[in-house]
Amino acid sequence: MTNSITAADLQARALSRTWFYPFKLPNGATTPSYDGGWLDGIHHTRSKMLDAVLLRSFAGHESRLSAIDLACHQGWFSCQLAQRGFARVLGVDARAEHVADASLIRDALGLSQIELQQGDVHQIDAEALGQFDVCLLLGLIYHLENPVGALRVARALTRQLLVVETQVVPNMSGMVDYGSYQFVRPLKGSFGIIDETDDTHGPEASTTGICLVPSVEALLWILGKLGFSRVEVLPPPADAYEQIKHGKRVMVAAWV
Ligand SMILES: C[S@@+](CC[C@H](N)C(=O)[O-])C[C@H]1O[C@@H](n2cnc3c(N)ncnc32)[C@H](O)[C@@H]1O
Repeated sequence: MTNSITAADLQARALSRTWFYPFKLPNGATTPSYDGGWLDGIHHTRSKMLDAVLLRSFAGHESRLSAIDLACHQGWFSCQLAQRGFARVLGVDARAEHVADASLIRDALGLSQIELQQGDVHQIDAEALGQFDVCLLLGLIYHLENPVGALRVARALTRQLLVVETQVVPNMSGMVDYGSYQFVRPLKGSFGIIDETDDTHGPEASTTGICLVPSVEALLWILGKLGFSRVEVLPPPADAYEQIKHGKRVMVAAWV
């Protein structure tokens, strides 16, 4: 039996349902997204910010580069990297349904340089996967009970540039009597605990429910300690989604 699924069939399949992201298909149509596109702004803002940092870091050399997109969901950013010309993109997500959806979108867009696999960021064998020029860790660490572990995995996977995007909490600073008034240590940042234990069925949520959300100061300090030589909070564009505009979420670039 011959495989008779055409590009038009794949696009029709994609258009027949609602997605987390508004994917622009080769036939000019855009996939319907959640709540009539209510969340599209956050995706477009993050795409713009990612584009800007890739442009200034690698302009014109993407065809020699590889990337890994941790928590790739339906592949919005993986597709963006492939469309920018990255030679190889590996998307990984804990949820099998996202891997299936990302595969459909990849095929509908004809982006054969994207590979997809199911995996939990805490279980990834970074040594076996090797290093990627660019590592994306977008919209994930604030859903995790071990965000530092995930950042360590991301560091191990990164050859040149890690981009982290996350919700952040207000920072706490000050000195702590650490065992005794004679041993005083400065706080380097904070984590806030968010309860997602009733939401683990949600497609965008944590898989375990206990979530540690960093402050910006905590994230920057940890990235420095993990060995990144330069760490920058990326500037939001003028028309940024409100959370990013007001610093409730940040995108941070960390160069090896
Ligand atoms: C808020 S979505 C963000 C998706 C995408 N990176 C973005 O920024 O638009 C969170 C994603 O993380 C995935 N996820 C949750 N826990 C994970 C884990 N432990 N390992 C890998 N992926 C995970 C979810 O399945 C979901 O696709």
